Amino acid sequence: MKYHSKISGLGYYVPDNIVTNDDLSKKMDTNDEWIQERTGIQERRHIIRGEDTTTSMGVKAAKIAIERSGVSKEDIDFVIFATLSPDYYFPGPGVLVQRDLGLKTVGALDVRNQCSGFVYAVSVADQFIKTGMYKNILVIGSEVHSTGLDMTTRGRGVSVIFGDGAGAAVLSRTEEEGKGILSTHLHSEGQHAEELALQAPGMGKRWVTDIIADNDPNDESYYPYMNGQFVFKNAVVRFSEVINEGLETNNLQVSDINMLIPHQANLRISQFIQQKFKLTDDQVYNNIQKYGNTTAASIPIALTEAWEKGKIKEGDLVVLAAFGSGFTWGSVIIRW
Ligand code: COA
Repeated sequence: MKYHSKISGLGYYVPDNIVTNDDLSKKMDTNDEWIQERTGIQERRHIIRGEDTTTSMGVKAAKIAIERSGVSKEDIDFVIFATLSPDYYFPGPGVLVQRDLGLKTVGALDVRNQCSGFVYAVSVADQFIKTGMYKNILVIGSEVHSTGLDMTTRGRGVSVIFGDGAGAAVLSRTEEEGKGILSTHLHSEGQHAEELALQAPGMGKRWVTDIIADNDPNDESYYPYMNGQFVFKNAVVRFSEVINEGLETNNLQVSDINMLIPHQANLRISQFIQQKFKLTDDQVYNNIQKYGNTTAASIPIALTEAWEKGKIKEGDLVVLAAFGSGFTWGSVIIRW
């Protein structure tokens, strides 16, 4: 018997608290025009202290995805949680989801691949289902960025871009040929690890005793660093390559794509890809305008929204593509 995986349920959750570009301009030297022109972002969501965490948002998104999948909680047999912003340094949020959803003592895996996290997590889930090991896998991407950003003018090149939110999918076994996930493609180039990174806390950065002794709030290594233009240049090349790789593997053409869901890094990156592949507005879904870049959550949030709006139909060719810190990048080719 040949098994495949398909997405049987989708859900997302974003905090109610909307932070506009004007709100940010009260905290740092920035403005709505600059942010919209460079990134397309109009607003993003930030959690309210004490109300949400990376795990709690993931759980909320997961509940919706499970409900829609028709799979009972008891039949979820593995959890994969992608995030760069876990509640705890360890354990990761996968086990917290197992606990908070009241799942059986199923395995829980944490994926640390930043903006490519959801694509990596889907790929892992797909392999487990293909081998016959598991039938229903809960995949979550969730991020809290707002509590870790430098909200002063020094951090403006990074902090205006990122937002909080969560998305989830249930992947289920199918025996239908040519349906579901057709292929996944993963890459990395660690040579550029420090071009988009948060170096502390990290055991390679410093000893805990040092942190306690001279915890310096001005130490920039506590905030994410991003070489924006370098990331941009690499992103547009890698997005294109990995979309082409997925299409070629399946003997498909760009014209076969019904819906491209790019990781919501920057609207300009998505538009560049759209133009390069000559895709129409109906063939690409973007929502970075409302949510900013939510890293591992961006693809499942966008995929869920597109599906909810009826933009993805049975039989459609759906392409997911991501690029981010690591550098890592990847794509997923799905026949819906
Ligand atoms: N508001 C106003 N001015 C800002 C600003 C902000 N939020 N952030 C940076 N600036 C200023 C800079 O200080 C610089 O000023 P200077 O010319 O006086 O030195 C100027 O704007 C240009 O900065 P630069 O970093 O060169 O801008 P950019 O055109 O490269 O845009 C990014 C910056 C971050 C929007 C852009 O590089 C980008 O989107 N890169 C990709 C990021 C990405 O996708 N990351 C996620 C990957 S998963």
